[in-house]
Amino acid sequence: MQIPFFSSASMHQSLKMELEAFWQKFYDSNWYVLGPEVEAFEAAYASFNQTRFCIGVANGLDALHIALKALRVGPGDEVLVPSNTYIASWLGVSQVGATPVPVEPNPHTWNIDPQRIEAAITARTRAILPVHLYGQACEMGPIMELAARYNLAVVEDNAQAHGACWQGKLTGSFGHINGVSFYPTKNLGALGDAGAVTTNDPALADFAKMYRNYGSKQRYFNEMPGLNSRLDALQAGILRIKLAHLANWNTEREVLAKLYLEQLGGIEHLRLPTLGIDCSSVWHLFVVLAERRDDLQAYLQKRGIGTLIHYPLPPHLQEAYVDLGFKGGQFPLAENIAQRCLSLPLYPGMPLEHVEIITAAIRDFYG
Ligand SMILES: Cc1ncc(COP(=O)(O)O)c(C=O)c1O
Repeated sequence: MQIPFFSSASMHQSLKMELEAFWQKFYDSNWYVLGPEVEAFEAAYASFNQTRFCIGVANGLDALHIALKALRVGPGDEVLVPSNTYIASWLGVSQVGATPVPVEPNPHTWNIDPQRIEAAITARTRAILPVHLYGQACEMGPIMELAARYNLAVVEDNAQAHGACWQGKLTGSFGHINGVSFYPTKNLGALGDAGAVTTNDPALADFAKMYRNYGSKQRYFNEMPGLNSRLDALQAGILRIKLAHLANWNTEREVLAKLYLEQLGGIEHLRLPTLGIDCSSVWHLFVVLAERRDDLQAYLQKRGIGTLIHYPLPPHLQEAYVDLGFKGGQFPLAENIAQRCLSLPLYPGMPLEHVEIITAAIRDFYG
């Protein structure tokens, strides 16, 4: 039997008729860039995320770039980022010419540790960029308090946690301006690249809207050299249809995650994901820290079980950041996670029996 790491087949099968009807309407509409589809999705996502504004952009990396640009973060500035994250969180900072400064994670939640942020603040720090990694909300209360105390901006990277909460408030609604990715495998995924910026600040929203569209508010008049980073109208329509199902899909993810936690409990060779106080997760990924991780991954592969590693090398050790001069051992918590983490299959529509097969295989491996 083959158990894929991820499949959108079940989600898309149930929406096939709706998506095909939309495609017909879209095809005949003769309107393919910005316009009604993008505006309708932006309104729907802002309402879902409980923010005043949502501005659709081309992808999650551009969303972070645009968010930081809107805050006028640039060369000479420092932005505090997690040492344990996907490199895109750092790339957004680099793209505006600022410097990413890593902060180690809480060893239990694997998200940026609010207790370690203060020590990393310098006279150049302009912003904190918490990432709700693997679907779990960061401890946003302490992060917002620190930011207020030091007069820093907060940009949430909400690529992986659509629908997660800290103390009941949604991720992507805390920061001054935040980035979202709708990459196809995300909890809310397009059928191609897509992203958005969320904010409650009208001036920042205005800037993002202009900057994503050549720096132009009025056609053929440009206030600044902006990007072409518009959310594709076809993807916007697809995302609006899928958004209505996000809550159910997140519930399905939670059921699968709880079963994993139950069935993997007590294996001393594994560290299971732990939720922080007041933090919820939408289980974008089910990540465990495993002894003999590479052997376990190969063993599962032999049994037809697909797994992935998120992520094998932390950003500070990537060739892309060699100029920052970091050395191995400098961020040991992130490095340890990279060496031991393994993501197990989890997606809406995955049969519960597959969790049983996977967990039995893991138990067999550790004997
Ligand atoms: C944490 C995080 N930040 C940013 C991104 C960038 O998103 P995109 O691939 O849409 O550019 C991703 C996703 O790939 C991500 O996982």
